[in-house]
Amino acid sequence: MPALPSEVLSDKKPLRFDSKGIENLIRAALRKHRTPYLILRKSQLLKQYRRFRKALPEALPFYAIKANPHPRIIQTFIQQGSGFDVASAAEMRLVLGLGAKPEKIIFANTIKSVEDIIAARKCRVNLMTFDNEPELYKISEHYPSAQVLLRIKVDNHRSVVNLSLKFGADAENAFPMIRKAHSLGLKPIGISFHVGSQSKNVDNYLQALTLSARIFKQSREGGIPLKIVDIGGGFPIPHFDGEVDINFERMATEIQKQIHRLFDSKITFIAEPGRFFAGPAGILVTQVIGRAFRNNKNYYYLNDGVYQDFSGMVFDHCKYEFKTLRRGQKFLSALAGPTCDSFDTLSLDAEIPELYVNDVVYVKNIGAYSSASAVSGFNGFPPAKIIFV
Ligand SMILES: Cc1ncc(COP(=O)(O)O)c(C=O)c1O
Repeated sequence: MPALPSEVLSDKKPLRFDSKGIENLIRAALRKHRTPYLILRKSQLLKQYRRFRKALPEALPFYAIKANPHPRIIQTFIQQGSGFDVASAAEMRLVLGLGAKPEKIIFANTIKSVEDIIAARKCRVNLMTFDNEPELYKISEHYPSAQVLLRIKVDNHRSVVNLSLKFGADAENAFPMIRKAHSLGLKPIGISFHVGSQSKNVDNYLQALTLSARIFKQSREGGIPLKIVDIGGGFPIPHFDGEVDINFERMATEIQKQIHRLFDSKITFIAEPGRFFAGPAGILVTQVIGRAFRNNKNYYYLNDGVYQDFSGMVFDHCKYEFKTLRRGQKFLSALAGPTCDSFDTLSLDAEIPELYVNDVVYVKNIGAYSSASAVSGFNGFPPAKIIFV
């Protein structure tokens, strides 16, 4: 197994993670490590995994490693028995190399290169999604025994990231495409969808399940019975303290009811949570490297920015709550990254106490879509070191 690009502080002592516990953890790490660093907490990975299994036991989780492919995260979920959603042969090799079983992997990218399809065949990763006919021709030529799930376009209403613009077949074309897959000798085995990332709107899931059930019925009547529904990811997490409109357990209960209302108990359900599993584990710790007064406010320049671990502000449309270790009166301030690019601005209206060079600014719930999409050295600034605790 390759060396892990992370350091284990301690797995042994139980760690408390209220805000005092988080600040103690940050201070302890500051004594040993230079910022910026992203602390990934195993306890939170396990907590989220268990919450998911408890609230939605019908849906077998396949962690979407795109959210954060750090080997320690993958290993943690392998130990829990999770499956994995991979988007490329490289991701597939990563999870296999860490010990995941091929039958616990779904290749959930509807557009795959021929090389990656061949790699899936060689790695015996049999389950994959598609949403168009040309993909079926490629799969049937290079991996004729593959089992395919048709990804359909579903409502992404009020989700932060829309994932049904670039992906998904129209539901009315679903059965003809399933029939096509069958006629090409492939094994059409089910339906998949994604309601969009950070979906606080449970109706998206409920409607998508209704559409899926309709396609299941058509397929059954057409002589090609389906067996799997992949309800994708999208499960939301709070990014701000006191965010009140997120209740995962309540959403899960409604999804559960819909599953039982619409589907036979023999149908298998899988899910592809990314953010929900990895997000809460991450705390990004940065320091002020410079400050200036301009445009009537203090501008604080941090040693991590949009090109590094705040990349989620661009690619994930994410907003973060910036916190400091200082107490006292708060002022409307600007926060920016370290690069020479003015786009590298993190906030123009952060409410924070006055800060000085070397002061800490940290963000919680930033384990997903952060380090995963960081650029390795724009302007010479590296992404945060990862500390797995
Ligand atoms: C196919 C697929 N599955 C799962 C995910 C994970 O989504 P989330 O992080 O919203 O759970 C994504 C995210 O882009 C995706 O594209």
